[in-house]
Amino acid sequence: MDKKELRKHLLTQRQNLSRDDRAPLDAAILARLTELPEVQAAQTILLYLDFRGEVESDGMIEYCLTHGKTPVAPVTFKEERKMIPVRITSLADLREGAYGIREPLHLPELEVSIEQIDLVILPGVGFDRKGGRLGYGGGYYDRFLPKLRPEVPKIAVAYEMQVVESVPLEPHDTLLDALVTEKGVWRRTSPA
Ligand SMILES: Nc1ncnc2c1ncn2[C@@H]1O[C@H](COP(=O)(O)OP(=O)(O)O)[C@@H](O)[C@H]1O
Ligand SMILES: [Mg+2]
Repeated sequence: MDKKELRKHLLTQRQNLSRDDRAPLDAAILARLTELPEVQAAQTILLYLDFRGEVESDGMIEYCLTHGKTPVAPVTFKEERKMIPVRITSLADLREGAYGIREPLHLPELEVSIEQIDLVILPGVGFDRKGGRLGYGGGYYDRFLPKLRPEVPKIAVAYEMQVVESVPLEPHDTLLDALVTEKGVWRRTSPA
């Protein structure tokens, strides 16, 4: 399957999960994620605001807010195909941005420089256990991730049903360091 076909297949499958199916999976993923040493060590964490049936992220943001960490989420600029990291001060202060994705209010004082980010937690459409990620086809994360400090861990969260043997990759695709699902944590063993 090429990227386009795999995307379609995996999105259909994910949309078939009901709210009741998801809740225990979201809870298991959150528990595994917050136990990771990378999460414990990080101060400023780039997260995402879930849409279209992605692993629920409000719990991750709450965790950051109650544990003295700084949660940040992307504000997306469609014309420039660009994401800017902005601090989330409260889950109540979000608006609907590009693609209908919730985002923090883009106040200048809440903008975070990319060098400040210690860890990235990212969603996606499909993943493999070798660091491969399939997004929605915009390439937003592929353009953003290389700008991070090189040692910053990039960790994906996904339901086990989103994991395939091998995601088709192109040279611009950025490999991830780890994948967390309801079943466990996988770390990339091959070099990036
Ligand atoms: N680092 C990059 N520089 C320039 N263009 C990029 C870069 N990364 C991705 N793109 C563009 O974004 C498009 C979508 O990337 P793709 O990996 O297919 O999407 P996604 O990662 O969202 O699944 C690519 O066809 C490419 O043109
Ligand atoms: Mg890609």
